[in-house]
Amino acid sequence: MDTLRDFVSSTCRKKVHIGTALLPKPLFMRDPEVDGTFSNESDDDAQDAMSVIKCATISTVDPAFDPVITKAARDMPLTKYGQVLTSEFNAVVIEHHLKWSPLVCTLPGPIDQTAPPTNYLGRYDFHHVDTMVDFALKHNMEVKGHVLVWHVTSPPCLEDMSPDEVGSAVKRHIFTTMGYFRDRIQIWDVVNEALASDGTLVENVFYRKMGPSYIEQCFRWAHEANPRAVLIYNDNKVEGCGYGSDDNPRYRKNAPLQAKSDGFYNLLKDLVGRGVPVHGAGMQAHFSAGGVKHQRPPTPSMVKRQIRRIGELGLKVNISEMDVRVSKLPQDEALRSRAQTCIYRDILTAALSEPSFDGVWLWGFTDRHTWVKNFYYDDRPLIFSEVYERKDSYEGVKCALESISPDEAKSLVNRKYIDCDVDENGIEWGHEWMQPEPSSDDNEKDSTKQGNPDWLLPS
Ligand code: XIL
Repeated sequence: MDTLRDFVSSTCRKKVHIGTALLPKPLFMRDPEVDGTFSNESDDDAQDAMSVIKCATISTVDPAFDPVITKAARDMPLTKYGQVLTSEFNAVVIEHHLKWSPLVCTLPGPIDQTAPPTNYLGRYDFHHVDTMVDFALKHNMEVKGHVLVWHVTSPPCLEDMSPDEVGSAVKRHIFTTMGYFRDRIQIWDVVNEALASDGTLVENVFYRKMGPSYIEQCFRWAHEANPRAVLIYNDNKVEGCGYGSDDNPRYRKNAPLQAKSDGFYNLLKDLVGRGVPVHGAGMQAHFSAGGVKHQRPPTPSMVKRQIRRIGELGLKVNISEMDVRVSKLPQDEALRSRAQTCIYRDILTAALSEPSFDGVWLWGFTDRHTWVKNFYYDDRPLIFSEVYERKDSYEGVKCALESISPDEAKSLVNRKYIDCDVDENGIEWGHEWMQPEPSSDDNEKDSTKQGNPDWLLPS
């Protein structure tokens, strides 16, 4: 059975990234429920392994969840997670451990469990990232570095620093991190989620201390740190263009979403226009199939339009953190699966039809390990089940990749919605599962200006 990775390398007309976010634990620690136990493994070992299998999602690295990955663990046969990862994907992005806070140790020696997010700079522990990066390179997978400058997982002590001190701390962090991985990581998310939902800049610690030009400054430092690296600006809720336009009356009530989509385009246009070394744009695509208001997923043609205009700036575009939540849909597993498959298939088919689109990265691949359960609610947002079986949505991704295969017939199958939201029979995309907009317009207070991430907004 062809894997996504094989299909891309053997069949697709253009070489794209089919990537996923990566966590160290499921990669290096055995999960007896899916990996079984090795004959030479005593029950205690299995028990130990069992006790540390949890999703690492907190803002600092906690030894209880992120033990040191011993040589033994690295040399063990691949876990199920490792098997699916290396056979299905040609690239990885570090989901959590390469962010500023998790990287910088609080105090010398073992990480203090009770310590709040770090308040010390300069002591870096690259251990977890090293093991993941070396593993990926050993399996000929490309690695994307995520993320150098993001206000959500940066050391809180930046708030107590002077503007100059923050500037030099950011510069040192960029040079230290990119320098350490200089020969192993050539793609970097430099700045993440700098835009509020009204399309203006979030007044985060970097904005308040370094001013609105901090984004440009960070890209210039990143380019200096590694002139060969591909540098990306990454953001969320920027995937669609055309909200409120006559083309899709159903989205008339979602017109406000156009503000962030335009803010994203204008920010990139301005950076390119001023010769700032930015090479690509990442659109996170954390979709909710049952979403309404600011959570309503864009249509394939809206995604194509957004990628098209960004591509015309000379930038590469990728979908950087895709997952599709379904638990806001009616409690009907078949409907939920059809909706999820439809979104993965049609949004990716539309994206892949654009020459500037160079890859899709999922935010994890198995429902067994997804941040959604810790940051939103219980859900099944990915393409492999809890026990690593291919879901219908997996076939959705495969279909999308077939749209760029030389096999004309196959490639034409799912393209009816990439340029228009209504097919030749007047059937609207998503008509079967798209949820109606609530009648009441309760003016939600927009807290994104202060930098509240999406998962802290009403969902
Ligand atoms: C999340 C990770 O999944 C969690 O493990 C971590 O604790 C917090 O960050 N946008 C981003 C990602 O750019 O880095 C976030 O990942 C999800 C939202």
